[in-house]
Amino acid sequence: MNRTVRITETVLRDANQSLMATRLPYGDYEDILSTMDKAGYYSVECWGGATFDSCLRYLNEDPWERLRNIRKHMPNTKLQMLLRGQNLLGYKHYHDDVVEKFVELSIKNGIDVIRIFDALNDLRNLGTALDATLKYATKNTVASGCISYTQSPVHTVEKYIEICRELQKMGFQTICLKDMAGTMSPFEAEGLIKGIKDALGDMPIVLHTHCTTGMAYMTLTKAIESGVDVIDCATSCFSNGTSQPATETMFYALQQYGIDSGLDEKAINAVNDYFKPIKQAYIDNGTLNPKSMATDAQALVYKVPGGMLSNMIANLTDMHAMDKFEEALAEIPNVRKDLGYPPLVTPLSQMVGNQAVTNVLLGERYKQISKEVQNYIKGEYGIAPGPIDEELTKKVLGDSEPVDCRVEDAKRTGEEFKAAKEALGDLARSEEDLMSYICFPPQAEAFLKKRKEKEENVCTYTIRQL
Ligand code: CO
Repeated sequence: MNRTVRITETVLRDANQSLMATRLPYGDYEDILSTMDKAGYYSVECWGGATFDSCLRYLNEDPWERLRNIRKHMPNTKLQMLLRGQNLLGYKHYHDDVVEKFVELSIKNGIDVIRIFDALNDLRNLGTALDATLKYATKNTVASGCISYTQSPVHTVEKYIEICRELQKMGFQTICLKDMAGTMSPFEAEGLIKGIKDALGDMPIVLHTHCTTGMAYMTLTKAIESGVDVIDCATSCFSNGTSQPATETMFYALQQYGIDSGLDEKAINAVNDYFKPIKQAYIDNGTLNPKSMATDAQALVYKVPGGMLSNMIANLTDMHAMDKFEEALAEIPNVRKDLGYPPLVTPLSQMVGNQAVTNVLLGERYKQISKEVQNYIKGEYGIAPGPIDEELTKKVLGDSEPVDCRVEDAKRTGEEFKAAKEALGDLARSEEDLMSYICFPPQAEAFLKKRKEKEENVCTYTIRQL
């Protein structure tokens, strides 16, 4: 039987999010979409993650309109998004009615593959988004259950297999291993993929990794040999560094294995030719820092994602405390252990990083505990993977019990929609506008105001012309 390994192209989302903070505007890539549509990708990741926020906050774009435009130019390719479970694309837990509507609108506007994850792998936070995906599914919809991969004494292969079994039971159709820090080694990939395949039969497995530490190509090689079904790659000029391995490189490697990727060689090369000058322009204007294209093996020691390192350097520089960098870096694994080994992915990466810096700068551990870390210890982000340090728990909780903050238990009142309608008035013209506001209130309001002003200017201009 001919084996296939399909490729997801990430240049429109994760590759440009990782290399240049998601600043790629739609206008830059509209002209290549029809070529991408012929390339034979498993899917094109183009939405979710930070794209929604970036559209409203920095690019003056309507994220929904962007999605509809991509859909229009790519009718034959599965469009994929990354969704942070109950947090959607933001940083707090939303009510179930908001999560359901968001998923409904995402599918309605063109999304096919919804990759759903929770920072803590607390599966209660995936249920609502999954149910909504299955409820509004079209024939192309795929609900992908995603695991935030990390290494720690409590993250064993057995534990991951248990999570995968649960995801399969919940109704997910594929399983994605999301190695956001790029620290998954080739042998860890082998152990995991073989283990999951043995336990789950023919459930398709997707591997998402980053080149940050330089290990990704080796890891993908072992993953391919171990039976992975889909791998995430980026067109070569937007690959490597903090981004994904290169699409063309993996295409050639798969050919050598005699494995069919379904890719059209001419099309994938045309995609890279198209993006080359675009990338150069962003290097020239400083948006793309060449540092993010380098290999940084430090993450293998500290298990710290690249974005978290640059964040920490920026914070310490602001505070004129870069001399404490090494100490703060060494404090990260300690804080992580105290908090029960949360995977270092948004928002946990920021929380752990900031707490480590605070511990070092104040010269006393947990003299000050951030609001977010307190809420985490209270249980508001979900269940920690391992036990939280007892003394620390006592310090934050006193005698009270941790809460169970599964939002599902809260009422579904539609109050966010009502509040959004009231706040926006005639600025809102669609459910999508309301949803943008619910997710990012000030950014969406500013965008919708600009949209209205622009239209009014066009009207006045037309009248003058008459
Ligand atoms: Co990623």
